[in-house]
Amino acid sequence: MLRALDTERDRGVSAFEAAETSDDLDAAQVDVLGRKSPFSAIQKSLGSLDPEDRKRVGQAANDARSELQAALTARREALERLAEDALLHADRLDMSLPGRVPRVGSFHPLSIVEHELVEVFTSLGFKVAEGPEVEDDWHNFQALNIPPDHPARTMKDSLYVSVPGHPELLLRTETSAVQIRTMQAQPPPVFVVAPGRVYRRETSDPTHLPVFHQVEGLAVDEGITFADLKGTLEVVAKAMFGERRRIRLGPAFFPFVEPGCEVGVSCFRCDGVGCRVCGNGWIELLGAGMVHPAVLENCGYDSERSTGFAFGLGIERVALLRYEIPDIRMLVDGDVRLLEQFEGVA
Ligand code: DAH
Repeated sequence: MLRALDTERDRGVSAFEAAETSDDLDAAQVDVLGRKSPFSAIQKSLGSLDPEDRKRVGQAANDARSELQAALTARREALERLAEDALLHADRLDMSLPGRVPRVGSFHPLSIVEHELVEVFTSLGFKVAEGPEVEDDWHNFQALNIPPDHPARTMKDSLYVSVPGHPELLLRTETSAVQIRTMQAQPPPVFVVAPGRVYRRETSDPTHLPVFHQVEGLAVDEGITFADLKGTLEVVAKAMFGERRRIRLGPAFFPFVEPGCEVGVSCFRCDGVGCRVCGNGWIELLGAGMVHPAVLENCGYDSERSTGFAFGLGIERVALLRYEIPDIRMLVDGDVRLLEQFEGVA
């Protein structure tokens, strides 16, 4: 019996060690230590031995069982570790693999300039207004004091749109039409800026595009004077081009303002000395003036009570000067080598 116990112990230990899976191990456990195993048969037959032998064989059976139990536990733990290792291995993240850097887009220089301009004006209390890009003759011209036979029309080289039932539609030649729509929609006071796209029948060259952008401004209230126009534009010039900038005004004609002026700002690059960017020290920036009484009346405003100023500025021009871009067409040809030099809105 002692020999049989030795045999069973050795057989059991090697069976447990050979188990590759926990199912194997369960089967081996039943086989070696189960109720029908040779080992259990030996234990059951202990009762038939005389006391002296029962003690020796019983002791040996207990020792063998402890050894088998230890081998079983050790193997079970080893198998669990292996399973865990396999899981970790399957789940592992290869940190040495370089990641894919997403390409981050950037704002278009025109968007950056437009956003900055709008920010300056909204900080002064102006609201943003919008109007349609397809306009009618009245809003784009007549209400702005440009009657059908006015020479200012010829200069605009307009693009007309033919829509049955809607004669005289055109792509707006200037954002000034938004002045009219805004005043028609509300009584004074009005303080708005209207950024937007405008169209002219123009062949593109280094300084012209048939589609470009403007920011229009309009302030109407009781007691608005030319001094308000000057002060506002000076604040904007400084905010856009630096605190040291000065502005200068010269007379100019626009049918919808009286008096009208052209506004220049001292060059941000040479500070008014004269350089490659500005030529003579000044950058002509925009058109402006006091809103013509006829325009106010066209919108139903009382020109005896309300006065106002208006201005219009080209966004492309500011972007070209500011970033020293040599050709306006570079703003629209979509070359990423230009675009990726810009980041975001300040
Ligand atoms: N609409 C003019 C243009 O496109 C610019 C302009 C000039 C707008 C004077 C104004 C203004 O509001 O007062 O050339």
